[in-house]
Amino acid sequence: MASKHQAAILPQKGGPLSVGERTTPEPGPNEVLIQVKAVALNPVDYYQRDFGIPPVPVYPAVLGCDTSGIVAKLGSQVSGLALGSRVIALASSFFQHGSPDYGAFQQYVLAQADGVIPLPDNLSFEEGAVFPLAVMTALTAWTTVGVPLDTKYSPQDRQAVLIWGGASSVGSFAIQSAKSLGFTVYATASPKHHDYLKTLGAHAVFDYRAPDVVSQIVDAVKKDGVDLHIAHCVVNEALQPTLDVLKETKGNGVAKVAHSPILPPDHPTLDNTEITFNYPPMDPAKRDEHISQCFHGWLQGGLKSGSIVPSPGIQIEAGGLEGLNPALDKLRAGVSGIKIVVPI
Ligand SMILES: NC(=O)c1ccc[n+]([C@@H]2O[C@H](COP(=O)([O-])OP(=O)(O)OC[C@H]3O[C@@H](n4cnc5c(N)ncnc54)[C@H](OP(=O)(O)O)[C@@H]3O)[C@@H](O)[C@H]2O)c1
Repeated sequence: MASKHQAAILPQKGGPLSVGERTTPEPGPNEVLIQVKAVALNPVDYYQRDFGIPPVPVYPAVLGCDTSGIVAKLGSQVSGLALGSRVIALASSFFQHGSPDYGAFQQYVLAQADGVIPLPDNLSFEEGAVFPLAVMTALTAWTTVGVPLDTKYSPQDRQAVLIWGGASSVGSFAIQSAKSLGFTVYATASPKHHDYLKTLGAHAVFDYRAPDVVSQIVDAVKKDGVDLHIAHCVVNEALQPTLDVLKETKGNGVAKVAHSPILPPDHPTLDNTEITFNYPPMDPAKRDEHISQCFHGWLQGGLKSGSIVPSPGIQIEAGGLEGLNPALDKLRAGVSGIKIVVPI
């Protein structure tokens, strides 16, 4: 008889999630079945629970993207992972036509092997869960603006980037990845996070609530003598000040902005500036290759060398699968410099 497990199921648009039983799936050739130990929460999880945005193709659905856990079964073509080993996994039904077998919020989940890597011994399951979607979004921003992930600028290249929203989950990995590619990193955040973001690799951090924040950044860039024509706008309603900075720093060249929140149709623009919604390739083969580069390349390498660390801070919420609704409500109410993680 097929095995069963508990899952936080979204029965219909508007939620709430409700804990129930599901049949445990078998992994396909390039898939891994993971016993979930911790999940991290992302804004898309409550958007889908509460508003059905982005569209949920199949109900009942299982939401969630970020997991860490233990390898329970391996597909026939998967190499480099051992049964019973600890892993970090991008587990999302997003690229699986909404199939609930692939959503993180359950005790056993399927994940594509491209997005599964070993969890280092020095990290807890809770720490491991913070990486997947935030790392992939931070790295996808680079390819969105035409910067390959194997870029290695040296200080003599004087290449700079602006990360608007550095204390967010995605922003913290935007900073870590920018540093690893060799950029001089300018970021915005509330003042209480400035020192921390410098430890992640920011060269200078600015209070986005300061009325003169744009001129502060422009002055610093000019004083440092670096070339700033690329930005990652990580948070909502930050495109205008991002463009205001680029207008003064890009010179006559083309500027490029990766925008992580959905771009409103009437968004601001700037001459000679490409503004692109930050999203992985639509072509499945190219997307798989990109995911593999993000996880098996950048993240696994960075964790091994110790140059990449869990970020931002972690707030653990209790209650397991039953605790997901109140934990998502807390995320929806707003967080500052923390990732909410729920042990399962
Ligand atoms: N395109 C994609 O595929 C994709 C994937 C994942 C996420 N996203 C989107 O990316 C965005 C970020 O997600 P997340 O999980 O990283 O968010 P998050 O961690 O929940 O963001 C919270 C942080 O946003 C910062 N913030 C809010 N308004 C700001 C502003 N005007 N200027 C600077 N910082 C501001 C706050 O900074 P302080 O604490 O410093 O005040 C806070 O720490 C969301 O819109 C999400 O939907 C898109």
